[in-house]
Amino acid sequence: MEKIKAMGMNTVSFYSHWGYHAPTNDTLDFETGAHDIGRIYEIAKNLGLFVHARPGPYINAETSAGGMPLWLTTGEYGALRDNATVFTGAWRPYMSKVEEITAPFQVTNNGTVILYQIENEFPNQWSNVEEKIPRPVPIAYMETLFENAQSNGIVVPLTHNMPNRQAKAWSIDYDTAGARGNVHIYGLDNYPTCWSCIPSDCSTSNPSFTLMDYTAHFNEVSPKQPSMMPEFQGGALNPWDGPAEGCEAKTDESFVNFYYRDNVAQRVTILGLYMIHGGTNWGWIGAPFVPTSYGYSAAIAENRTIGSKYYEIKSLALFTRAAKDLTKTDIVGNSTSYTDNEAITTIELRNPDTDAGFYAIRHTDPTSSDEQSLRLSVRTSAGNFTVPIVSGNDKMSLNGHVAKILVTDFNYGRMNLVYSTAEVLTYGIFDSQPILVLWVFNGEGGEFFIEGATSGKVVGGDASKVQFVKPEKGLIANFKDQTGMTVVTTNEGARVLLMDRDTAHLFWVPALTTDPTVPVDQVAFVQGPHLVRGAQLEGSVISIRGDSNETKRIEVFAAKQAKTIRWNGKRLKTQRTNWGSLTAEIGGPEVFETPKLGTWRVQDSLIERHTNYSDSGLAWVDADDMETSSQYDDATKPYLYSNQYGFHNGVHLWRGYFNGTADVVYLEVQGGIAHGWTAWLNGKFIGSFLGDLSSSTGAKEFSFPNETVSDKQNVLLVMQDITGHDQGSGSLNIRGIVNATLLNSESGFSSWKVAGTAGGATGSFLDPVRTHYNEGGLRAERLGWHLPGFDDSRWPKKSPGDGFTGAGVRFYRTHLPLDTPAGHDVALSVKLNFDSDETSNSFRGYIYINGYQYGRYYPYLNDAMNTFPAPPGVWNYNGDNVIGLAIWNQEEKEVKCDLEVKVEYVLASSLDVKFDGTYLRPGWDEKRLLYT
Ligand code: GAL
Repeated sequence: MEKIKAMGMNTVSFYSHWGYHAPTNDTLDFETGAHDIGRIYEIAKNLGLFVHARPGPYINAETSAGGMPLWLTTGEYGALRDNATVFTGAWRPYMSKVEEITAPFQVTNNGTVILYQIENEFPNQWSNVEEKIPRPVPIAYMETLFENAQSNGIVVPLTHNMPNRQAKAWSIDYDTAGARGNVHIYGLDNYPTCWSCIPSDCSTSNPSFTLMDYTAHFNEVSPKQPSMMPEFQGGALNPWDGPAEGCEAKTDESFVNFYYRDNVAQRVTILGLYMIHGGTNWGWIGAPFVPTSYGYSAAIAENRTIGSKYYEIKSLALFTRAAKDLTKTDIVGNSTSYTDNEAITTIELRNPDTDAGFYAIRHTDPTSSDEQSLRLSVRTSAGNFTVPIVSGNDKMSLNGHVAKILVTDFNYGRMNLVYSTAEVLTYGIFDSQPILVLWVFNGEGGEFFIEGATSGKVVGGDASKVQFVKPEKGLIANFKDQTGMTVVTTNEGARVLLMDRDTAHLFWVPALTTDPTVPVDQVAFVQGPHLVRGAQLEGSVISIRGDSNETKRIEVFAAKQAKTIRWNGKRLKTQRTNWGSLTAEIGGPEVFETPKLGTWRVQDSLIERHTNYSDSGLAWVDADDMETSSQYDDATKPYLYSNQYGFHNGVHLWRGYFNGTADVVYLEVQGGIAHGWTAWLNGKFIGSFLGDLSSSTGAKEFSFPNETVSDKQNVLLVMQDITGHDQGSGSLNIRGIVNATLLNSESGFSSWKVAGTAGGATGSFLDPVRTHYNEGGLRAERLGWHLPGFDDSRWPKKSPGDGFTGAGVRFYRTHLPLDTPAGHDVALSVKLNFDSDETSNSFRGYIYINGYQYGRYYPYLNDAMNTFPAPPGVWNYNGDNVIGLAIWNQEEKEVKCDLEVKVEYVLASSLDVKFDGTYLRPGWDEKRLLYT
């Protein structure tokens, strides 16, 4: 969240996940571990960020069942996202609790929550959109959600987001039919280059850099509301079969530069970037589009790295934060006739109160990658101009796949910028004097006109590149070939900083206040560091917090009282420049290498396959339901649907008994896209379904070897994993065994038992902090071998790299002692490696870090997706870490796999990654022993 603030954002949006807070239908947890959403509000408030809360009930596609609790998936609650009493009764306690927690944090109570979204991409208001024929059930559902929020004291605007431009639902302006169910602010989501790293996942995938007309849409659907895009593409999710590194190029720095400026040009005044950080990387895994642990190619990567995409968004966000006149504009023109170049289209925005102008220029053919040059005609308070004026033959340039927003009559403090061909980055007021910051692409030039300025002088940087002209009403400065920073004084005390893009990328505007609107006289300017997280001015010291990746000089602009720079708590030898700023040298990071992993120990995690294993313990329940509430009732009876028995996540074990011989078993198992299963008869492996990227069901027939099947009692063990529940109404698709049929058997299966997450059958999961999403019914999980504090000292010493043969599951465990250097942020991930020449890829790996399941590795489906970052708090940077690895060998061949801990980056930083996160990592306890 510090990185989001540092980027210039004024708001952070988050989904709250109903299933995470409601492990059962009569429990709500907003307290343990990381469950307290009030903390998010507090942190946001302290950082100066508004919050757009988005609690559901349904949230998103990438998480199991869209974030709805999995106890809803049995069919007992009827259709989901419906207005029937039984479904309303299910969501009301959760939504009411979120609302109760949220209400005191609203902006109206001096808090920080400014918008509140009900439901997510629920487009069902109309059965016929154009004729406005209402659909009563979804409307009643939305009305109930709306009333619930208001009756719990939510007074900030209620919002919603449409997945496309066709549905036009829930907008009070569009609902001239009186259909009801509308929210206060309508929103439209859009993912112009497809929300997936694999373009064929999208029904329509536009070639890069094509644009859509949002203005017409908002004019039609929500003309009296702010034009809001709660989700605009900030990256793309990475499915199981996506490229290992994600697809950063698809939404790179040009993408964000170009598209986000177009959004601004189309008068979008609430723009949410989906996603700004990471990916859907928790222990739960949904289907069908679910990455294992893969990021969203977002500006702040899953491993918390920032780079040029982040910096590029920052340049625009700093501008929109300072350009207050941009919040109220009309589109007064949109054509190619603003410039002398047909290849360029301009949208002109005007603030009707101040007459400030914003000219958004881009290529007429947005897909064009040519560099163009142009002169732009602008209307200003000082007259009409075709700019640049001064530069002789030199025109303004515009590269392909980027856009510019150029201002006229832009007030900065007491000064007025009549026009500028360089983009405004920001401005600030220091000791009542303004500093304006302009930027151009590396090597480009620019020109600006300041009203009333009487003199101009280059006081820092290369004076030979800047030329001044004095028209009647002020001063025009023209600069060429910008590299680095140039400092111009334009009057006594007023300064203009000119910079190239690289310099702008490392230019920060930390707020000296927690007011999210960041008044321009309460900022500092800092150029140079990798990241500036915050600043404080006290007496003569300007204290700056941030991250550094190298030793370098930084430059700080602050009020004159500041004489010394303190960087991450350390006073620096500070000098003052001729142009009034302070400079000092900051240090780079120390070298840090991960310590070696401790001794690996191993244990068999699948003794349940053997005939002499007793399944009479608490871990197991009889799977004997002859009835189901599921609409999918055409299946083997008793119903072998896991949710029906209280088991929802991860591995499930099914034990089926039959007497007398049989020849063949036919099994159809459903676990979601990419799931797999393996079967053993009387302890002997009979076969596996290795997984499939396009099917959530795996059907196979296996004949029994003669020596395996007994003429007395036989037990078949089926081990399956669940990759989550499908999105939307697909959530109700069952998980478990759809068909288990014996051929040439006298009586067929006589009974079944099932084991899943410990405690599931009685609705009392054992780990409220990590939640039941974190663990399935693997023996290692039930017994808590993945948890810190479990004693493995008597286990044999063997590492996953030593390998093993035979279908089965081995659980490996080791320790990683960490003591990262103080004052450093270190990003760590776990990486699995194996040599495909040496070993089979028919295995599944489950990775646990201090008890958190932080990745699933399915090399048979994608062996390159093998790196799983985890954040501080999951890691303990100040002591012992337990790493667990379950290897499920799906065939008899040998499997060998190495695990390494990888350092993603080391930065000198103010972020305290060594905080005491013990509360997030509860240890093993004896209750686990009951689930043997
Ligand atoms: C939207 C949805 C988000 C996310 C996104 C794709 O439809 O609202 O939650 O699923 O698509 O990443």
